[in-house]
Amino acid sequence: MRTQPGRTQVGIVGAGPAGLLLSHLLALRGIESVVVEIRSRAYCEARQRAGVLEDGSVRLLREAGLASRLDREGLEHGGIYLQFAGERHHIDFRKLTGGRTVTVYAQTEIVKDLINERLARGGEIAFEVTDTEVDRLDSERPVLCYTIPDGIRHEVVCDAIAGCDGFHGVCRQRIPAGLLRITERDYPYAWLGILADVPPSTDELIYAHHPNGFALHSLRSPTTSRLYLQVEPDESIENWPDQRIWDELGRRLELPGSGWTLKQGPVFDKSVTPMRSFVSAPMRYGRLFLAGDAAHIVPPTGAKGLNLAISDVAVLAPALDALLRGEPGVADAYSDNCLRRVWRSTHFSWWMTTMLHRTPGADDMEAQLQLAQLRYLIQSTAAATSLAENYTGLRS
Ligand code: FAD
Ligand code: DHB
Repeated sequence: MRTQPGRTQVGIVGAGPAGLLLSHLLALRGIESVVVEIRSRAYCEARQRAGVLEDGSVRLLREAGLASRLDREGLEHGGIYLQFAGERHHIDFRKLTGGRTVTVYAQTEIVKDLINERLARGGEIAFEVTDTEVDRLDSERPVLCYTIPDGIRHEVVCDAIAGCDGFHGVCRQRIPAGLLRITERDYPYAWLGILADVPPSTDELIYAHHPNGFALHSLRSPTTSRLYLQVEPDESIENWPDQRIWDELGRRLELPGSGWTLKQGPVFDKSVTPMRSFVSAPMRYGRLFLAGDAAHIVPPTGAKGLNLAISDVAVLAPALDALLRGEPGVADAYSDNCLRRVWRSTHFSWWMTTMLHRTPGADDMEAQLQLAQLRYLIQSTAAATSLAENYTGLRS
């Protein structure tokens, strides 16, 4: 096999939101990088995931010059609905947080915008690579190795490597196990998510607690709805033909006596996502820095995963810039700086998840405690403010 040596400043593993945004933020600072990705460009641009951006994430994308389509097509939301016991209540983020909002703009669109921007500016992204390896991490010249589709093996000497390769990536596994503290929890349920060609039946997201399990009505555009149902953790998608999904969504989201109905339409994407909390610390080993899902996973109920990936790389870009100029202090603080926000979001996501989902086999005490908490949220400005400031994103 032919091997081609190479050189870059920062080797980036993974072309998800974390890796692509890091590459862009580094380029703005005049730092060169190479991004490697096991999937094809088309796959990365089509993979359906998150949809809600915090205030701070939108600001960051705007400041980085990445928001022209986001500003045209993103949908600003000033709150959410909480539904339980047959009632639907609005939590008004603008009023509770002094004007803060969230923006509905799909992760797939952010990934498309980032890939276009990087390629238009001469950025290097190698798609469909195999056998990614990172090595010599405890030296000042770590190496990123990968094979491109025509069979040539690349060995790129870097000043630092960013592991942005998601939960199943290879980078985290290169940190000696004895140095890592892994804290994790699996939940006894999963989300079945659909995208449907039908105008949303709501102006803002509905998070619904129901005896059959959680349901969420989200959206992507004025003509596309995104909906989720709590299902069994090992649920097979074959058990859920489209009509069964609509019937169950209708049951869990219905508001008896209100006249509200759930509009149905053709389903064009369907998937099941497991629910997990996972934090791996520290987020650095030598010249390897982890960011996004490579270092932490939250259950999706608080819409935090994508926002955490964005805030990690917003901290990492200036840290690497300083490190490459011979000032290691900011890079030394990278992991601790990120982990404070990661743990806040881990707590919020756990709290939203356990308040809204039905735990299989749980007694009536659990359901009553959830309902008591939900009632408190709509009765107490203090409680609602806590939800609102966490959902829209705490300043770090
Ligand atoms: P990723 O987006 O996972 O990107 C990592 C990239 O690295 C991938 O493109 C992968 O192919 C690549 N890669 C992996 N291994 C290698 C390798 N060896 N070499 C090269 N490249 C590699 N969050 C929410 O807030 N709301 C949601 O509704 C929601 N839904 C989700 C549904 C699913 C199925 C999943 C998996 C996640 C979901 N998330 C959601 C979480 C959110 O999408 C993630 O937090 C976000 O994608 C993190 O971005 P990232 O760049 O860190 O990781
Ligand atoms: C979406 C996903 C979430 O996890 C969430 O809490 C809200 C919205 C979405 O995909 O639109």
